[in-house]
Amino acid sequence: MKKLLDHISEEVKRAFAEAGYEEELGRVTVSNRPDLCEYQCNGAMAGAKKYRKAPLMIAGEVAEKLRSSTAFQAVDAAAPGFLNLKVKESFLADYLREMANSPKFGAEEAGAGKKIIIDYGGPNVAKPLHVGHLRSAIIGESVKRICRFAGAEVIGDIHLGDWGLQMGLIIHELSLRKPELPYFDEEFVGEYPKEAPFTISELEEIYPTASGKSKEDAAYKEKAMEATFKLQNGVRGYRALWDHIIRVSVADLKKNYDRLHVEFELWKGESDVQDRIPAMAEYMKREGYAYESEGALVVDVAEESDTKEIPPCMILKSDGAALYNTTDIATIEERMEELRPDEIIYVVDKRQELHFEQVFRCVRKTKLVKPETKLKFLGFGTMNGKDGKPFKTRDGGVMRLEYLLEEVYEEMFKKISESREMPLEEAEKTAEIVALSAVKYGDLSNQAPKDYIFDIQKFTSSEGNTGVYLLYTMVRIKSILNKYAEQGKSAAETKITVTDNESAKELMKAVAGFGAMAENAYQETAPHKICAYMYDLANAFNHFYHETKILTQEDEAKKSAYIALLGLTLRVMETCCDLLGFSAPERM
Ligand code: ARG
Repeated sequence: MKKLLDHISEEVKRAFAEAGYEEELGRVTVSNRPDLCEYQCNGAMAGAKKYRKAPLMIAGEVAEKLRSSTAFQAVDAAAPGFLNLKVKESFLADYLREMANSPKFGAEEAGAGKKIIIDYGGPNVAKPLHVGHLRSAIIGESVKRICRFAGAEVIGDIHLGDWGLQMGLIIHELSLRKPELPYFDEEFVGEYPKEAPFTISELEEIYPTASGKSKEDAAYKEKAMEATFKLQNGVRGYRALWDHIIRVSVADLKKNYDRLHVEFELWKGESDVQDRIPAMAEYMKREGYAYESEGALVVDVAEESDTKEIPPCMILKSDGAALYNTTDIATIEERMEELRPDEIIYVVDKRQELHFEQVFRCVRKTKLVKPETKLKFLGFGTMNGKDGKPFKTRDGGVMRLEYLLEEVYEEMFKKISESREMPLEEAEKTAEIVALSAVKYGDLSNQAPKDYIFDIQKFTSSEGNTGVYLLYTMVRIKSILNKYAEQGKSAAETKITVTDNESAKELMKAVAGFGAMAENAYQETAPHKICAYMYDLANAFNHFYHETKILTQEDEAKKSAYIALLGLTLRVMETCCDLLGFSAPERM
């Protein structure tokens, strides 16, 4: 379906052509003087030189041609040569009726035919999820849904950090605590136990303890590195132990991501590509891309136009070990072979920008991606506390994800219990839904690369630009629609028509902007555009609601048109929520 603005532009373009001018001059934009008009066209000014005519005269002639158009209620030529436009409510009503009956509200599928991989989440096995991982999960999930809505085939890959020194640390610490386990017996040839020799809480304690010890005790660290080396070289007992660590961690991660309504199609990790690294390094050497420098294998990725230094990309360390770079490069090679994506989007902390710059340049130079494959780094900023420093627990520790969610949940539960009587079970369920929207909207409403302040009081407030305000608005609409049904009428039978109500018209324009917004959010990989749109839409609805008698409206035709408009508004808002990764409860 055509976007509203394109639809309007077409009318004006036709008028320019009819008046004898170049059609392209008729491009229309939303007015920057809403006190004067709704839309404007500056084409007469642009054409004045070419046609050697006063812009106001051109505008006047075009305005004349537009008088008969069914789209406009007012067309004025204003000095020095603007065309000021107001659309007819009937034009909007026609447009919205078509929208209501079109799949995806008529939004263009700008991503149709594309295959996109989104690399997000990126938790590290056996380390607790912290708030840094929260942003990746929230933003990545929304980007995934936006791309999917745009018609693309999208695959989300969690890309677990499951191969580094942290594994060796855990294994070494376990070997000290439980040396009797068969995993440490080199003679052992039997089957290893099915049960893991630790629980998730033990695992979460073991890692920080081991990491602390390794920082103080060089010999301990040496042993942990040795364990990592043995694991990476396939020592049987260590691999078996590693399997346990992965299984126990992944089960716990799934619980956390479920609570966030974040879902991955692929649970691959850094370990999955280790087998292909030797051949890849060999290929890079053979083709002359990689060379040895102080024992290490590197690829130069600096370019002449660089304004800052981009160091060479290291593929193998002098001891032959692979690095974070190597894993990411090998993962791209694997993805290209197995999935053939048109684009890969990385949702990672923006402090990793240089790493990805090197990786992207390296895979281009070594031809591991096709020239037309897009690689995009969507770097996000830090979530800070009210003191402007990275968010911490009350006692100054690293904030764990589950504690943070629990805190927001408690706050929401308190508010919901205070303001309304509902059965305990419903209050709990509602608080969970609303808390999630508070956290996600608080994050997504900021441009991803910016830092933001996590403020529980603000995020859970029902006033202002918050997820909770939006849900309140949606619940309000749901309640009106329910009451309409209780009057024995069917909302399904209503149609959007002209009501001669200014605030209804404003709401109609806001709803009509959905398609253009959704396409733009996809093109720019920008969930915050959906947030901004939803907020404007909610404001337009609330303004209408306060100005208008809806359920008590005597004119039945008007009432029915209002209900139809509210029905579409709600559906559009629900779609936006879904694109952001949360939903609205039935009541609050
Ligand atoms: N595990 C990494 C971390 O916690 C993030 C992984 C990001 N994705 C990637 N393909 N490197 O920092």
